[in-house]
Amino acid sequence: MKGIILAAGRGTRLYPMTRPVCKPLLPVYDKPLIYYPLSVLIQAGIREVLVIVPPGEEGTFYTLLRDGMQLGMNIHYTVQPVARGIADALLIGRDFLDGDDVCLVLGDNIFWAEGFAEMLKKAADGNPGATVFGCKVDDPRPFGVVEFGPDGKAISIEEKPEHPRSDYIVPGLYFYSNEALDIAADMPLSARGELEITDVNLAFLHQGRLRVIPLEDNYVWMDAGSADSMLSAAQTIHDLQRGGAYVGCVEEEAYREGWIDRAHLRKLGEELKMTAYGRHLLEL
Ligand code: G1P
Repeated sequence: MKGIILAAGRGTRLYPMTRPVCKPLLPVYDKPLIYYPLSVLIQAGIREVLVIVPPGEEGTFYTLLRDGMQLGMNIHYTVQPVARGIADALLIGRDFLDGDDVCLVLGDNIFWAEGFAEMLKKAADGNPGATVFGCKVDDPRPFGVVEFGPDGKAISIEEKPEHPRSDYIVPGLYFYSNEALDIAADMPLSARGELEITDVNLAFLHQGRLRVIPLEDNYVWMDAGSADSMLSAAQTIHDLQRGGAYVGCVEEEAYREGWIDRAHLRKLGEELKMTAYGRHLLEL
């Protein structure tokens, strides 16, 4: 299985901050936003990652993440020429995936849960076609909303419904078999001019091959797309880290996966030792 991070949004809801700097490179508390979805892929055990960036931005992302070898992984970059929706990432990633299954994560989604690495690996292993998650939120209207039947199985998904059928939304983390690429290739653009990821999920739902794993207690999901959500995400990360749970620490996750050894982790920590982040690496 390979990973794709879709980090190609213009971030217009964060103007003027995102005029010179892409949203996934902005800080959320003590690290760039893209560290959070990258750490999710690492926890899923995925070592081959494609980062899809806005045109002309490969260099800035490369400055931050380089080729991934420092984390014992391979990171590649490509652009999304036109903002055509989340499912377009599957089409852009076709050559990179080369027939493999994919875990797609949005560049502005932040996840944290106790035992998340184990849960992600299980999700990847038993995937019937598509595996997504369900998060309970106060206002589901701006998201893809999933409805569960009495047996706990998903029975409908609607993108940004006016009258949501449940409080559970599908966050930006999706596991797909490679067939998802052909599904996306055959889909029409939606009314907002996008290839909707919800339509890909619906295709798997209709085939009886969609699994939705509800995230229940003790997890955090945040979509850092506006100034307010970035502020509350930063505060949440700060509080979690005060409580001893380091979130989005790509070096730590690569170390836990066994991709880098102690000596290398120490070297990475030394490079950042002027920060609490670097000192955390050294304490590991
Ligand atoms: C997108 C998806 C939506 C999903 C959300 C998660 O929304 O279309 O289904 O719930 O990401 O962040 P958008 O960011 O396009 O509004």
